[in-house]
Amino acid sequence: MSRTIPRTALLAALGLVTVAGTTATVFDTTAGAATAGCKVEYRITNQWNTGFGANVVVTNTGDPVAAWTLEWTYANGQQVTQGWNATLAQSGAAVTAKSMSYNGRLATGGSTSFGFNGSHNGTNAIPATFKLNGVTCNGATDPSQPPTTPPTSPPTAPPTTPPPSGSQADNPYAGAKVYVNPEWSAKAAAEPAGSRVADQPTGVWLDRIAAITGSAGSMGLRDHLDAALTQKGGGELVVQLVIYNLPGRDCAALASNGELGPTEIDKYKTQYIDPIAAILADPKYAGLRIVTTVEIDSLPNLVTNVSGRPTATANCDVMKANGNYIKGVGYALNKLGSIANVYNYVDAGHHGWLGWDDNLGPSAEILKQAATAEGSTPSKVHGFIVNTANYSALKEDNFKIGDSVNGTSVRQSKWIDWNRYTDELSYAQGMRTKLVSVGFDAGIGMLIDTSRNGWGGAARPAGPGAPTSVDAYVDGGRYDRRIHLGNWCNQAGAGLGERPQAAPAAGIDAYVWIKPPGESDGASREIPNDEGKGFDRMCDPTYTGNARNGNSMSGALPDAPLSGQWFSAQFQELMKNAHPAL
Ligand code: BGC
Repeated sequence: MSRTIPRTALLAALGLVTVAGTTATVFDTTAGAATAGCKVEYRITNQWNTGFGANVVVTNTGDPVAAWTLEWTYANGQQVTQGWNATLAQSGAAVTAKSMSYNGRLATGGSTSFGFNGSHNGTNAIPATFKLNGVTCNGATDPSQPPTTPPTSPPTAPPTTPPPSGSQADNPYAGAKVYVNPEWSAKAAAEPAGSRVADQPTGVWLDRIAAITGSAGSMGLRDHLDAALTQKGGGELVVQLVIYNLPGRDCAALASNGELGPTEIDKYKTQYIDPIAAILADPKYAGLRIVTTVEIDSLPNLVTNVSGRPTATANCDVMKANGNYIKGVGYALNKLGSIANVYNYVDAGHHGWLGWDDNLGPSAEILKQAATAEGSTPSKVHGFIVNTANYSALKEDNFKIGDSVNGTSVRQSKWIDWNRYTDELSYAQGMRTKLVSVGFDAGIGMLIDTSRNGWGGAARPAGPGAPTSVDAYVDGGRYDRRIHLGNWCNQAGAGLGERPQAAPAAGIDAYVWIKPPGESDGASREIPNDEGKGFDRMCDPTYTGNARNGNSMSGALPDAPLSGQWFSAQFQELMKNAHPAL
């Protein structure tokens, strides 16, 4: 028997000079039957605080084999998370790697290799022995150790060959299933005919600090991620989380006010973002693609609802002046975006809010400002989400922004009112271009929340409106049946929109259901609560409106519970008016 344990600076060769490499070569030609023999080279190709990548070269020094199984045992609690060119399984400390159809055959002296990513707790010793097809390659203890002071941050570039499945996907939704929240699913399934949609993926809203740990009656973040691992099986799976707890949350709408006061930025950081980041960084979850949609309805308020605008609120002025929305979002993006398998998508409003020239550019700038605050950089932003929990139609087919009637542009219609966009798809694509122009990565992708923008059912126009005036033309043809584009609470007549799907259109990573259909946007009347939620009259069907909705009726359904609570009547209506129909 002979053995060598060279240490190589492989990473220097890969350009990853901050990460030391460790290799052990272990071989034995005599163990077991005279015809069996093997040599194994197990190389740690990179390592950071809790993770590592490894490459294993298996050489058959015995008689030819048609397939192989390599076994080893970890001494320090290491965990294999993902592999390639072998099927890896782990039970306790024992790992088995089985050959694939294409690399099982090994002639005498033949070798093959496979790789994997794993997690460790600080010590990452190379396994002492390996068995090939049940025969020990080496029984001795391996004295080699990985670097004692591993670098604290992940390597700047992932290993190049072959691509580890743990590296960031351009579009995380491509080729992946999406997590079905069992809690939402159960509520949907309990509704008459709800089983038609109960298996759809929806967002998991971390809308208060207590949502992180959960309670006896509700799943916490770890519960969801553990359930996600089960749903994942052998494939890829996206989990959709909503980061939603800014200080002074929702300064322009009372229904979703939050638990943190305008100045509680430190609490936001240390009791909300930090604990979430700690859980997401658990190596156990490294194989999940975690999409975080970051702070719905926050930053654009600093553009549209501050002094100088007719829709200003005192609370939005406070949040602009104290900078805590910008700081909070920057902190969240930086912390969460530093985790290799987290994909940040920042909220970018919807066309009925930011689609006007006065709002679009300044909003893109504010988003950039937040993405460069508190240590964040635009590279921490994978994309943006639009229409979250809103009702704007995905595509208005019956008119286009360039149309005119009798020489008058549809932009002059009451409904469009000089907006640049008629629908969410065109807005998402236009906003994407704008965001790239202010400095976001050219590869950013957009998500569109289509949970409640179907507008199907009997009232859906079959074709364009009469070309007698721009108003008749637009109002007769539009799918979005809201009384006013600015209405947002529990809208009567709405339906489920496009089912969640990956890469549906240029620049769009996915249609998603982030707002779980059936969860209220806000109570129709004052309901005392301990969540900080106020009563917003936009949720009261008798309200006659304000400057933000052209002083129109609110269009809200009656008898709604607090935001986030189950609202059966709304769920039934959403199913009835689904488009595509169920
Ligand atoms: C509420 C949250 C809720 C979410 C999803 C928001 O409007 O404020 O509490 O989790 O909607 O339903």
